[in-house]
Amino acid sequence: MSVPRFADFERILFFTGAGLSAESGIPTYRGKGGVWSEYDYEDYACQRAFDRDPDKVWDFHDKRRGAVGKCEPNDGHRIIAEVQKSKKGASVVTQNIDGLHQRSGATDVVELHGSLWRVRCDRDGLVRDDASVPMSPRKHDCGAYWRPDIVWFEDSLDERVLERAHRLLAACDLLVSVGTSGVVYPAADLPRIAMRNGAVSVEINLDDTPVSALYQHQLRGTASDLLRAMSL
Ligand code: OAD
Repeated sequence: MSVPRFADFERILFFTGAGLSAESGIPTYRGKGGVWSEYDYEDYACQRAFDRDPDKVWDFHDKRRGAVGKCEPNDGHRIIAEVQKSKKGASVVTQNIDGLHQRSGATDVVELHGSLWRVRCDRDGLVRDDASVPMSPRKHDCGAYWRPDIVWFEDSLDERVLERAHRLLAACDLLVSVGTSGVVYPAADLPRIAMRNGAVSVEINLDDTPVSALYQHQLRGTASDLLRAMSL
């Protein structure tokens, strides 16, 4: 298994998913013990569910906020933040909504799927940070519910966020995909932008994924072990 080293690159882009936060104790989404094995997204993670029963959807998100709030960034998050500090051109594009990149010191994190720690007025679209657990009050002054500012199933990604991600991916010289199953689109297509532009590509995962064959280096193991190996 040949392991590229961060030291040999300048514009490193980390493309991260739930597997990075697994070592912090946050369950991934798919597979055994995954969030979507226990909860049906149609009841908890789509606008239709929220329109039908906002309190049920908030109860689920309050539970997630409570659990995620107790978790700490792990070595994988910390290594990424350190690389970002030592290389001006390094960046993070994440599918994670847990905020652990930011808590480990990473900056300018592009959050493709929004954040568990922001809320958005369901009527006028006003967005604000909110880390309360349970989130309270559930309604904005205008009378409408706040909803989690998360890209749920069937929602579109924010165009400006997507543009930022495109720009960073097109410019990187090393793409490191960490802990993502590569099955959720359009996010799963983004690494191809970096590959088309000549970046060296690395996939870090415990297992093969449907997109593994696209990567020049397929590293198998835990995110923290393999990110550490790339730091040596
Ligand atoms: P998934 O749960 O689909 O995939 C997690 C991946 O991480 C799997 O391929 C695992 O093999 C791998 N993995 C698990 N533990 C690992 C470890 N310690 N080290 C390395 N790899 C590990 O999560 P995502 O790909 O992030 O959307 O899912 C994409 C999106 O689907 C999420 O952003 C989420 C979900 O619906 C929203 O929250 C809006």
